[in-house]
Amino acid sequence: MKTMQVPQDDDVLSSMIPTVKRFMGYMSPHKLKLALVIILMAVFALLEAIFSLLMGTATNIISAGHGPVEPLFRVIIWLLAGAIIIWISGAISQKLLSNISQEALYQLRIDLFAHIQKMSLGFFDRRPIGELMSRVTNDTQVIEQFISIGSLQTGQAIMTIIITSIVMLLVNPSLTILSYIVVLALVGVSWLITKTSGPAFVLLQDKTGDLNGFAEEWISGAKTVIACRQQDAASRRFSAMSRKVANIGEKAQFSALISQQVSNIFTTIVIVILLLVGGIMVMDGMAEIGTLIAFIGFSFSLLGAFTTIFSSYAQILNAVVGASRVFEVLDEKPGVDDRKDSPAMPAVTGDVIFDHVDFSYIPGRRILTDNTFHARPGQVFGLCGPTGAGKSTIINILTRYYDIENGAIRIDDKDVREVRQDTLRVQIAQVQQEPFLFSDTIMANLKYAREGATEEECVQAAQQANAHDFILQQPNGYNTVLVDGGSNLSQGQRQMLTIARAIVANPRMLILDEATSNVDTRTEKLIQEGLLALQKDKTSFIIAHRLSTIRHADQILVIDKGAIIERGSHTELMKKKGFYFDLYMSQFRGKLSGIVKE
Ligand SMILES: Nc1ncnc2c1ncn2[C@@H]1O[C@H](COP(=O)(O)OP(=O)(O)OP(=O)(O)O)[C@@H](O)[C@H]1O
Ligand SMILES: [Mg+2]
Repeated sequence: MKTMQVPQDDDVLSSMIPTVKRFMGYMSPHKLKLALVIILMAVFALLEAIFSLLMGTATNIISAGHGPVEPLFRVIIWLLAGAIIIWISGAISQKLLSNISQEALYQLRIDLFAHIQKMSLGFFDRRPIGELMSRVTNDTQVIEQFISIGSLQTGQAIMTIIITSIVMLLVNPSLTILSYIVVLALVGVSWLITKTSGPAFVLLQDKTGDLNGFAEEWISGAKTVIACRQQDAASRRFSAMSRKVANIGEKAQFSALISQQVSNIFTTIVIVILLLVGGIMVMDGMAEIGTLIAFIGFSFSLLGAFTTIFSSYAQILNAVVGASRVFEVLDEKPGVDDRKDSPAMPAVTGDVIFDHVDFSYIPGRRILTDNTFHARPGQVFGLCGPTGAGKSTIINILTRYYDIENGAIRIDDKDVREVRQDTLRVQIAQVQQEPFLFSDTIMANLKYAREGATEEECVQAAQQANAHDFILQQPNGYNTVLVDGGSNLSQGQRQMLTIARAIVANPRMLILDEATSNVDTRTEKLIQEGLLALQKDKTSFIIAHRLSTIRHADQILVIDKGAIIERGSHTELMKKKGFYFDLYMSQFRGKLSGIVKE
C-alpha cells in the first residue's frame, strides 16, 4: 500500500513551475470563474483589514468618552455589514473554487484513464498494475485534497498578507515595521517546530500504510493463511507492527499538541509586545489608541496567514508530486502505434504467414528466433512445448500486442504493422490463458464480444460452448452479476464463458491459449466440444499443454526456447520419435498411471 510522504524539497522545486503551469492548463477553461475567485479573495482580505480598522475607530470613539453614541452605533453597523459580506464572499469563492477544481480533476482523471487504455502491452510490463492504480486513485486524490480546500486557504492567506500589509503601511509605517518583526520572528520559530514534528507524522503515515497493507494481504489471503496454519504467527506480527504504530503515533500527537500550545503562546506574545512598544508610542503621542488596537488586529491576520501557508506547505508539495506523477504517465507514448495514414484491415480469409520472425520483450533478450510458418485459411495450428518456450509470445505478436524485431507477420498478404490495430484485432477471437471476465452480468460479458450481438446469439453461443446449463443454474441465470473478474465462477466455467464469448465474436481467426488446464475430465470433454464448435471454418492457433487437445490439428508446431524445433501432423510427429513423441508418451503414461491409481 502506498502512503503519502513529504517529498524532498529539491526534487520537487525544480519541477514545480512546469507542473503547476500544466495543471493550470486544466483550470484555464474556467478563467472567468477563477478571476472572480481572486477578486472575492481580495474583497475578503480588504474587509478583514477594514474590520481591524473599525475596531480601532470604535476604540477611539469609546476612549474619547462622553460624546454622542451615534458614531459608535454607525461603526457597529459597518462591522456587522462587513461580517455579512465577508461571510457571503467566502461562501461564493468556496463554491466557485470547488466547481473549478472538481471540473479540472474530472478532466485530468478521464485523460489519464483514456491514455492508459490506449497504451500497448509493453507499457503494462513496465508499470505494475498496483503502481498505475495508485496514480489513477491516490495521486489524483492528493491533488484533490489540495485544490479543493488547501488552495483556497493558501490563496486567501497570500491575499491577506498583501492587502493587510498595504493597509498597514498606509496607516502607520513604524507600527507596520514593529508588527512585521514580531510576526516574522514568531513564524520563524513555528516553522522550526513544524520541521521537527513533521517527520513524525510522515513516519506515522508510512507505518500505518505498512500496517494496512499487511492486514489487507493477510485477510484477503485468509484461505492460504488457514491452510498454512499461520493465524497465530500473523497475529503476532500484526501486534508487533501495531505497537510500533501506537508508539510513533503517541510521539507525533504529542509534538502536534505542543505546537498547538506554542501557537497559543504566540498570540499572547504578539499582544504583549505590541501593547508594550505600541503603548509607549501611544502615550508619547506618536499614535492613537485606536491605531494600536487596529494593528493588534492586523498582526493576528498576518500571523494566521503565515501559519496557514506554512501548514499547507507539505500539502502543496504533495499535490505537485502527485500531479507530476500523473503527467509522467500522460507523457508515455504507446510502444505499438498506428501510423496516421494506416488503412483499416479489410475482412480477412485468415491466411497467416510468419516470415523469419525475431522478437524480444526487452531489447537484447531474444525470446523468439527465426520463426517461420504459413497457416492457410481454415487450418488448425497446434502449438506445444515446455513452459516459458514462447507459445503465448507468438500469439502476442500475431495480434500485434508487441512489434517484432526482424522479419514480418502477414495476414492475407498484409503486414500487420501497416494496418490499424483495432481493425486487425476485431478479426481475431481470443480465449486467453487467464480467462478474464468483467464485473457485469453474464449476458453483458458475452455481448462485449461483438458490437450488435443479440441475446439469442449469445444464448446460442453459450449452448455451443456447453456453458448454457451452468449459466441457468446461477442465481439469476444470464443476469447473474460476476464479481471481481469472475471469481464467483469456477475456473472451468470461466473458460467455457470465454469460449462462448469467442463464438459470439465469430471472426475468421481464432486463438486459444491453454483453454483446458486445471479442469476435471468431464469438464475438459465439454470444453473440447465447445472448442471444436468454435474452430469450424476458422484459421485457429491452439496452444496446449495437454496434447490430446491438438491431436486433430493440421499442423503442430513444437516450440522450445523460442524456436520451432519440430513441425507436422500428430501422426508425422509420432513417427519421428523426437521431442513431440517423448512429450506425448510421457503424458500418455501419466494418464495411464492416474487411471491405475483411481
Ligand atoms: N511481458 C513480458 N516481458 C518480458 N518477458 C516476458 C514477458 N512475457 C513473457 N516473457 C518471457 O518470454 C518467455 C516466453 O514466455 P511465454 O509466455 O511466451 O511462454 P509460454 O510458452 O506461453 O509458457 P506457458 O506454457 O507457461 O504459458 C519467457 O521466458 C518469459 O519469461
Ligand atoms: Mg503461455
